[in-house]
Amino acid sequence: MKVSIFGLGYVGAVTAGCLTKVGHTVVGVDVQAEKVESIASGVSPIIEPELDGLLAEAAKNGLLSATQNHEQAIETTDVSLVCVGTPSAENGELNLQFVRQVTGQIADKVRVSGKSHDLVLRSTMLPGSTQKIATDLLADLLESGKLRLFFYPEFLREGTAVADFDDPSLVVVGTHDGSAFPNELSPLFGADAPSVNWPSAEMVKYACNAFHATKVTFANEIGRIGKNMGVDSRSVMRLLCQDTRLNLSPYYLRPGNPFGGSCLPKDVRALTHEGRRGGEELPLLESLLPSNEAHLAKLIELTKRLAKDRVTLLGLSFKSDTDDLRESPMVEVAQHLLGRGFELSIYDPQLNLAKLIGTNKRVIDEKMPHLATLLTGDLGAALGQSGLVIAAQKCIDLETLRPLITTEHTLLDVNGWPELRDLPAHYEGFCW
Ligand SMILES: NC(=O)c1ccc[n+]([C@@H]2O[C@H](COP(=O)([O-])OP(=O)(O)OC[C@H]3O[C@@H](n4cnc5c(N)ncnc54)[C@H](O)[C@@H]3O)[C@@H](O)[C@H]2O)c1
Repeated sequence: MKVSIFGLGYVGAVTAGCLTKVGHTVVGVDVQAEKVESIASGVSPIIEPELDGLLAEAAKNGLLSATQNHEQAIETTDVSLVCVGTPSAENGELNLQFVRQVTGQIADKVRVSGKSHDLVLRSTMLPGSTQKIATDLLADLLESGKLRLFFYPEFLREGTAVADFDDPSLVVVGTHDGSAFPNELSPLFGADAPSVNWPSAEMVKYACNAFHATKVTFANEIGRIGKNMGVDSRSVMRLLCQDTRLNLSPYYLRPGNPFGGSCLPKDVRALTHEGRRGGEELPLLESLLPSNEAHLAKLIELTKRLAKDRVTLLGLSFKSDTDDLRESPMVEVAQHLLGRGFELSIYDPQLNLAKLIGTNKRVIDEKMPHLATLLTGDLGAALGQSGLVIAAQKCIDLETLRPLITTEHTLLDVNGWPELRDLPAHYEGFCW
C-alpha cells in the first residue's frame, strides 16, 4: 500500500520503518525540516533498536521518502496515518490542536482531489475525539464516502517498538459503528484485528495505560509495606505472577458487582491499617475500599431511580454459588430499598436460612432480621407482571427466567449477563 505518515516523531518514525519492512511505500510528513531530512535520507530521528537499519534499507530500496508538503503526500498515497503529538495542558486536558490541523489539511486536499482516501488516526485521544473530528471537519467527505475514517491506537513500547510491531500484544481498529474494517486495509491492520467503535478503540488505549500504571503502583506499594514487615516482596510478586488463573488472567477484570465477601474487604483493610500504623503511605491500596463504596453508592442510586414499587433481587450473597452474606453489596442494596418502602422479594436458591451460622447469620440478624419473609422460591409470583428485577447473579437459568419476564419489567444487569438483553423487558446495564 502507499501510505502517508503525518508526524515523524517516535510513533511516526517507528511506523515508517516497520511498514516499509513489510513492503509498503511510505511518504513521511512533518513540519520540522530536520526530521524530514533525516527520514528522507534513511536515518532515524530517534534512538530505537533496529530502526536505523530499517529506515536505511527502505530509503535505499525507494520505499521511503519524506516531505514538508502535505498535498504532495496525499496525492501520491491512498491512506494517511496521523501520528502527531497530543500533549497535555497543565490542567491535564488533552491538546488536539495538531491532530485537528493535520486532519483539516488532509480533508482540504481530498476535497479537491479526484480520488478517495482513508484516514487513520493513531495519536492517543480521549473517547469522543474521533467523533468530534468527524463531525467538525469531515462530515461532507464521510457522507459522500470519499474519505473513510478509522481510529487505530498505538501500543508499541519504546525500546522494543520494532519487535512489538512484529509480534503485537494488542491490535484494535476503531470504525464508526464497530463494523469490520474493509478487507483492502488488512495489509495495514492485519486480517485478524478486531473492530470496535471509535470511542471504544480510543478508550482501550487509556484503559491499558491506566492498568499498567496501576500494576506498577501496586507492585511498588506491596514492596514498601512488605519491607516494613521484613518481607522481600520481589519473591512475593514472583509467586503472585505464577498464579495465571486468578492473578494474571481475565479474572476480576469484568465491570460489574462491587467486591464483597469475607476476604477482599477485610484483607485490604488489614493491609492498609498496617501501612498506616507503620507510617507508610499506600494511596493505591487506600483507595480500593472508597472506590468500591463509590461503586456501590452508584448502584444504590440507580436501583432507587429505576424502582417503581415492586423489586425482585436475583442473588443476595456476595457471589454466585455461595450462601456467604458477609459484606455482600446486595445486602446493602436490599436494606436501602426496604428503607425506601419498596415491596422487595429476594430469590437466591443458595440461601437456606436454617443453615446460616456464625457471622453469616449475625449479618442477617442485625441487618435484615425479617429476611425470611422476603426470601422466595416462587419467582413467578415474586416477579408478577411488572417491576424492577435486579440481576446480581446468574442464579437462575435463562430459559426458566424467560417466560416470567414481560415488557413491563425493567431488568438491571449488575453482573454482566449479555443474554438478558434478549428478554422482552427494558434492559439497563449497571456500568456499561
Ligand atoms: N511515544 C510513544 O511511545 C507512544 C506510544 C503510543 C502512543 N503514542 C501517542 O502517539 C502520538 C505521537 O507520539 P510521539 O511520541 O510520536 O510524539 P512526538 O512528539 O515524538 O512526534 C510528533 C511529531 O508530530 C509532528 N507534527 C506536529 N504537527 C504537525 C503537522 N501539522 N504536520 C506534520 N507533523 C506535525 C511534530 O513535529 C513531531 O515530529 C501521541 O498522541 C502519543 O500520545 C506515543
